[in-house]
Amino acid sequence: MQYLPIFTKLDNKPVLIVGGGDVALRKCRAFIKARANITLVAPQFCDELKEHAEDGDVTLITDYFNTTHLNAKMLVIAATDNDEVNNLVFEQANERHIFVNVVDDQPKCTFIFPSIVDRDPITIAISSAGTAPVLARRLREKLETLIPQHIGPLAKLVGSFRTHVKAQFKHFADRRQFWERVFDSSVVSKVQVGDTAAATEQLHDMLEATAKPEGEVYIVGAGPGDPELLTLKALQLMQQADVVVYDYLVSDEIMDLVRRDADLVCVGKRLGNHSVKQEDTNQMLVDFAKQGKKVCRIKGGDPFIYGRGGEEVQVLAANQVRYQIVPGITAAAGCSAYAGIPLTHRDHAQAIQFVTGHCKKAGQELDWLSLAKPNQTLAIYMGVIKSPHIQAQLIAHGRSGSTPVAIIENGTRKEQRVVRTQLDQLAAQIDTQQIVSPALLIIGEVAALHEQLAWFGQTSQISSFAQPLTDVA
Ligand SMILES: C[S@@+](CC[C@H](N)C(=O)[O-])C[C@H]1O[C@@H](n2cnc3c(N)ncnc32)[C@H](O)[C@@H]1O
Repeated sequence: MQYLPIFTKLDNKPVLIVGGGDVALRKCRAFIKARANITLVAPQFCDELKEHAEDGDVTLITDYFNTTHLNAKMLVIAATDNDEVNNLVFEQANERHIFVNVVDDQPKCTFIFPSIVDRDPITIAISSAGTAPVLARRLREKLETLIPQHIGPLAKLVGSFRTHVKAQFKHFADRRQFWERVFDSSVVSKVQVGDTAAATEQLHDMLEATAKPEGEVYIVGAGPGDPELLTLKALQLMQQADVVVYDYLVSDEIMDLVRRDADLVCVGKRLGNHSVKQEDTNQMLVDFAKQGKKVCRIKGGDPFIYGRGGEEVQVLAANQVRYQIVPGITAAAGCSAYAGIPLTHRDHAQAIQFVTGHCKKAGQELDWLSLAKPNQTLAIYMGVIKSPHIQAQLIAHGRSGSTPVAIIENGTRKEQRVVRTQLDQLAAQIDTQQIVSPALLIIGEVAALHEQLAWFGQTSQISSFAQPLTDVA
């Protein structure tokens, strides 16, 4: 690029024009528009330049050019018909690093005048870097016909609202969205027909309508309990929420990390103890968001794995509430890792099934034949109460009674307990060991690897627990 297009603010800046004829006058007009502080030097001046001097627009120095005229000038134009003078101006200006333009002599220009489409404050400048001025002029003519006259007043109007809009929308993206809405609205046609008052009123209304901040819901997975398993995104959103809606499953250490002055709402959810109905929780999220609040709906594990995140998001979408979903480490992944049980292993399990022991509707029986197949791992959520049924069905459908089982209570938390047993003793062990919620059942050959791996590999978390693991064969 030979010339970098920049728009300069010449308001009251010192500019020198060497010359006093028509060419100097033409350049002078452009600088008067830009409110520059203009001095002209020439032995004589045309009448129009003299009038400008009388009006106080320019200062005339009746003299031949000499280098002192360049003192303290930012820009200089050589507009004489004398090549010698023009050359001198060019050389002297260059020596002093002053931008110079010798009219109609492009090699002697360190700046040039582009063709302009003027819709003040919108200005479009076109330059061919002096190579094809006629082509540049033709382009300008095309643009003149394409760009409507009302663009200038429209830009002035929106410019007068910029500070208010900036104050109202902190984020650039929100400001951009607002302006997109304005330019798609009838504000534009009102300016077009010259009704600036109506356009101004409409802009005020649009701004007022968005004054209430838009609410949003974050559906956040908090993982199985260890706060260090939170994702960075989960932590960020927990700390910017106005309201936190949480379940019992979310550990106290994690709840300690939510924004201090956020309102906390517990919606319960323990099997057989739903303190708030799911429908009411859904509605609560919508209501808070419609009040303009940032709502963090925090859930144990992953929101989309037995977390009812899907149901909540459906209701938010139906009510046109903005939301974000943050995945979390699901109990099967967290508990198995902290218990030293790989969910798949080339020697023992080629598949893993996530299963719930608790179905929404009665009669929604599980596919026991598929679940009883060998060489796979079952991670059973909410399976403690139904453990006698699970045990009986798996054995009845062909799974061996000696299949290894791990019952992981409070997985990944300080009080994690792993009870190792086998399938035909599952229910009895849950009873005698008095397993409490939350607990996950891992059924399959991989469960036996717990003995081998629990104190190695992932043991840094396990060995740091206050209570050692309780292993029951
Ligand atoms: C309603 S489900 C929620 C699952 C959760 N959305 C997830 O992805 O882990 C609750 C069940 O998850 C299992 N669970 C969740 N956290 C657990 C933990 N820390 N230790 C053991 N089991 C856990 C238990 O089976 C519990 O009954």
